[in-house]
Amino acid sequence: MGGGSCGGFPLTTPGLVLVTGATGNIGRCVVDRLIGAGQRVRAMTRNPRTAHLTAGAEVVYGDFERPQTWPDVLDGVERVYQFPFPCVGTDSGFVGAAARAGVRRFVVHSAAAAGFAPGDDPGDQTLSALRRHLAEERNAHRELELMVEATVVEWTHVRPGLLAANALGWAERIRTERVVREPYGTAGYPWVHEADVAEVAVAALLTDAHVGAAHTITGPAKVSQAEQVRAIAEAIGEEIRFEELSPQQAREHWLRDGCPQEYLDWRIELLAASLDGTGALPPTNTFQHVTGHPARTFTQWAKDHAGDFRPPTTTMADTV
Ligand SMILES: NC(=O)c1ccc[n+]([C@@H]2O[C@H](COP(=O)([O-])OP(=O)(O)OC[C@H]3O[C@@H](n4cnc5c(N)ncnc54)[C@H](OP(=O)(O)O)[C@@H]3O)[C@@H](O)[C@H]2O)c1
Repeated sequence: MGGGSCGGFPLTTPGLVLVTGATGNIGRCVVDRLIGAGQRVRAMTRNPRTAHLTAGAEVVYGDFERPQTWPDVLDGVERVYQFPFPCVGTDSGFVGAAARAGVRRFVVHSAAAAGFAPGDDPGDQTLSALRRHLAEERNAHRELELMVEATVVEWTHVRPGLLAANALGWAERIRTERVVREPYGTAGYPWVHEADVAEVAVAALLTDAHVGAAHTITGPAKVSQAEQVRAIAEAIGEEIRFEELSPQQAREHWLRDGCPQEYLDWRIELLAASLDGTGALPPTNTFQHVTGHPARTFTQWAKDHAGDFRPPTTTMADTV
């Protein structure tokens, strides 16, 4: 046993921890926090040269779609932060290979939908697009969780609600036009900061307090889309226009952006579902319960990401 604690629980000082999806919104925070806790970390990516991960992490090339890359990735690993890539949970997939290589604990990057009651068939065309989408998400994430449960004794599922990082989808238009165009300005969700998801994941990797638990993590309260845009505007110190589209205008707008029809249908329904309340994914207080402190707000997220929404600075060299 090593010294120190995490969320009030003693650290168990594991051997090598592998972070998959290490360059993603959440994975990057997991790597940072593990390194900050003095943990030995291996970070998997398909592009080690451009990964720009925290100094101290051992960055290795690995691809979920190329099993020949897995032995080097998994060599000597004791615990894994498992990104939910579609094929990792199959019998001959990454999870099985990891267990055979000696991995003893998985912390699964899952989704709140995995906690929904089973029942809806994602292929049932009589259901609404949102119900089909949530059933598909539920099944995919729950399948991975069940594969992990059947494979190792020590597991934790970290199930984020809707990520605040989805707002990065607005970044280009904010940078170039200072505008966000969406239907239903008052619709919103308790967007969860990726740092909160990572904090829970790290507690599950470094202490024994969360073995066998499934944690659904959300932001502290519903934040509407119009409020999100105001928070980003304040964070960058610039005005951003929120242009409310009718659902039909939104469809046409997103189709022009190349979004698939199915996606438009469920996304409009997801927003509409939250107009009068908290919608399909209401807030939980799990983060506070697990860590002992309040979940980060969307205002905090916007401040942390102000640089993503500012136009690139023009230097003298660009102008001559
Ligand atoms: N959006 C939401 O609101 C929401 C809510 C709940 C759960 N989720 C789940 O969270 C996931 C997104 O998490 P995130 O935002 O942290 O990730 P992200 O920023 O989308 O990053 C994707 C990661 O996947 C890795 N990756 C992609 N293809 C790979 C492959 N073939 N082999 C190995 N790694 C591969 C990428 O690594 P490299 O490119 O470096 O290889 C990257 O690190 C979603 O896929 C969803 O399942 C999303």
